[in-house]
Amino acid sequence: MSTSSPSFGPQAPASCPVGAGAGAVRLSGASYQQTPTQLYRSLRRDHGAVAPVLLDGDVPAWLVLGYAELSYVLTHDELFARDSRRWNQWETIPPDWPLMPFVGYQPSVLFTEGDEHRRRAGVITEALEGIDQFELARDCRRIADRLIADFAGSGRTELMSSYVHALPMRAVVEMCGMPVSGSDTQQLVDDLRISLDAGEGDDPVAAYGRVGDRLRQLVEDKRAAPGADITSRMVTHGAGLTDEEIVQDLISVIAAAQQPTANWICNTLRLLLTDERFALNVSGGRLSVGEALNEVLWLDTPTQNFIGRWAVRDTQLGGRHIRAGDCLVLGLAAANTDPEIWPESYVGAENSAHLSFSGGEHRCPYPAPLLADVMARTAVETLLEQLPDLMLAVDPTELSWRPSIWMRGLSTLPVQFSPMAQ
Ligand code: HEM
Repeated sequence: MSTSSPSFGPQAPASCPVGAGAGAVRLSGASYQQTPTQLYRSLRRDHGAVAPVLLDGDVPAWLVLGYAELSYVLTHDELFARDSRRWNQWETIPPDWPLMPFVGYQPSVLFTEGDEHRRRAGVITEALEGIDQFELARDCRRIADRLIADFAGSGRTELMSSYVHALPMRAVVEMCGMPVSGSDTQQLVDDLRISLDAGEGDDPVAAYGRVGDRLRQLVEDKRAAPGADITSRMVTHGAGLTDEEIVQDLISVIAAAQQPTANWICNTLRLLLTDERFALNVSGGRLSVGEALNEVLWLDTPTQNFIGRWAVRDTQLGGRHIRAGDCLVLGLAAANTDPEIWPESYVGAENSAHLSFSGGEHRCPYPAPLLADVMARTAVETLLEQLPDLMLAVDPTELSWRPSIWMRGLSTLPVQFSPMAQ
């Protein structure tokens, strides 16, 4: 969720039409985006575990901050469901609303419910289960080597554009069965980047159209000649998905994989390069890389907040009256640091009970978190092995977070190292 840049801001005026209640906090403005932990703390103090908030354009919603409350929402899909057409605010939403790409209904796995969701998600799960994690690690290593070779001779680079985003995108597109080399694979990678994260001068609508066309072609090719890849396993699956359903779900898989995995790599590298607990034994320190990856999921998780769920009927949550059709934003980052589970205000990172991959029926489908771990770990370890004296090229205080409350990652990550002979 990076194309819009909402962030928490001042409280709405009391006269604001807030179905969620007076005193709702605006998720727009620029004040808190660099320090969300403080924001979650103050929201919790002022509003409790379920806070009334205003999305872009002052559209009311609930932000679920409590670990127990969020777990309840995620595991009660009969009360809190995924089809956004349930929303009771649609008549107030303009067609060009900035959050429309994430909230507008699409016929993909993301918005399906019940048996239809189990059918679609079951196909994805089995298609992902067919990936050999050792082969994936080897492929990521090859992709990493090639990306590093492009900048290794110069002694410095901006890692977000030269490495962090490129590696998972390339890996996922190859997992889907696109050829390892070839100009149309590169074109698809470029178009996906533009659709998910358009820069100045880009045309995301045209790029998204080309992505659909190329994936439709891929599905046709794999129907004719299946191989050992995600797309082939989807077309040959007994559930009998149509080509259009497969295209929609491939786009969901690629989009769901790329941004969070890239930001997981980014936030882990930032931690390793700035925190002296890790700096001491960073190069080749396998255990430390694993610890950093896990700590990031607890404290700086990529998908901070996610929209969401919609109430199926009137109900109660965290002492709030939730009306049928209300929107709930999943406060994954806030729930991970909930003082109810960390009463001493120390957040440990020894286990994986965080909610960074969400939970319940619509959670990030097993084994996607394992595949993301292989990609992220290989990306970080390969970089540190190849460039052992890698360090920040700016003072840590100059690093800035992207202005988004949805996806947490840095705008840029400038680094320097001893140039490698080419
Ligand atoms: C190989 C990499 C990944 C793949 C293929 C993948 C795939 C997916 C898919 C298909 C969904 C939709 C599930 C559904 O609606 O039934 C999903 C949801 C999600 N994923 Fe992932 N994902 C990947 C990596 C990650 C990472 C690294 C994170 C964060 C650390 C993450 C966090 C989430 C979250 C928060 C959801 C939303 C679940 C919800 O609605 O409750 N994913 N993922």
